[in-house]
Amino acid sequence: MNIVEIPRPLTIPSDSPVFKIARSGIRPMEKRVLIPRQKIQTKVKDLARQISSDYEGKEPIFVGILNGVVFFFADLVMSLSIPSKIDFVRASSYGSNKTSSGAIKLVKDVEIPVKGQHVVVVEDIVDTGLTLNFLVNSLKSREPASVKICALIDKAERREKEVAIDYCGFRVQEGFLVGYGLDYAEKYRYLPDICVIE
Ligand code: IMP
Ligand code: MG
Repeated sequence: MNIVEIPRPLTIPSDSPVFKIARSGIRPMEKRVLIPRQKIQTKVKDLARQISSDYEGKEPIFVGILNGVVFFFADLVMSLSIPSKIDFVRASSYGSNKTSSGAIKLVKDVEIPVKGQHVVVVEDIVDTGLTLNFLVNSLKSREPASVKICALIDKAERREKEVAIDYCGFRVQEGFLVGYGLDYAEKYRYLPDICVIE
């Protein structure tokens, strides 16, 4: 388990290397594993089975929302038993802190025309719902045959816009999560488990 346990700053002797790291501002944040890699993998396989069965005989376009979705997206699409096409969008992100600016803009659009196609939007985590709401509306305006949403994590705590998540991996109530693609100020995306920052 990737738990980073460090003593509280006041208990660290001032001549220790940890103290120097703390003073340099690059002290690692404390993280606790919330969803281990194995549990993620089982869930991804379940979602892929369900989606493959629902889209039997079709070839949907999976649209991943960059950057956080990368590992989930790859694992999900490779676990499908149906053919698929893949594309990506990128919306303006949280920036370098834990609160959303509220304003969303499309930084990268899909390149495959979605008109008349079945689209599955894949997101890492839904928080306020503003990002997905904006992106789904944008995709729907190009008249696809259908649009469904697959999200690895539904974090209901701060929902502002209702989004109907058709395929949901995990529901969490609160907390800021990192790992398996999720970042805090671009850090920790590489962690294989989903961890909560304490
Ligand atoms: P929303 O627009 O508030 O639903 O935010 C969605 C985006 O915010 C996600 O695609 C993530 O990139 C980011 N986000 C929300 N909650 C978390 C979190 O707990 N950890 C990391 N990123 C998050
Ligand atoms: Mg994201």
